[in-house]
Amino acid sequence: MKKQLTPYRCHIFVCSNIRANNPENPGCGTKGGGELKDLLKKAVNERGWKGKVRVSTTGCMGLCGEGPNVILYPQELHFSAVTEADLPAILETIETLKPKL
Ligand code: FES
Repeated sequence: MKKQLTPYRCHIFVCSNIRANNPENPGCGTKGGGELKDLLKKAVNERGWKGKVRVSTTGCMGLCGEGPNVILYPQELHFSAVTEADLPAILETIETLKPKL
């Protein structure tokens, strides 16, 4: 095993889990999680952040009822009930990281 610091200034994890056996709480993937991941990835590339900011799909984060959920690491920020309209605010959070990207 090799242990190292994360190579990314920010790693965006977007839940796209689908809880097929739970129709009352079907998961972030049924509420746009996958689309949010695609939009964030596009925005990261457009800003030239590739290599500094990584967007990844995740499974369940345990807050399914509040999804779609997005978390930023190592900033330890958690966004719930995220919609496309919230993405500029999430991107602005990343843009204002110190030191600058
Ligand atoms: S399905 Fe997204 S947090 Fe559980």
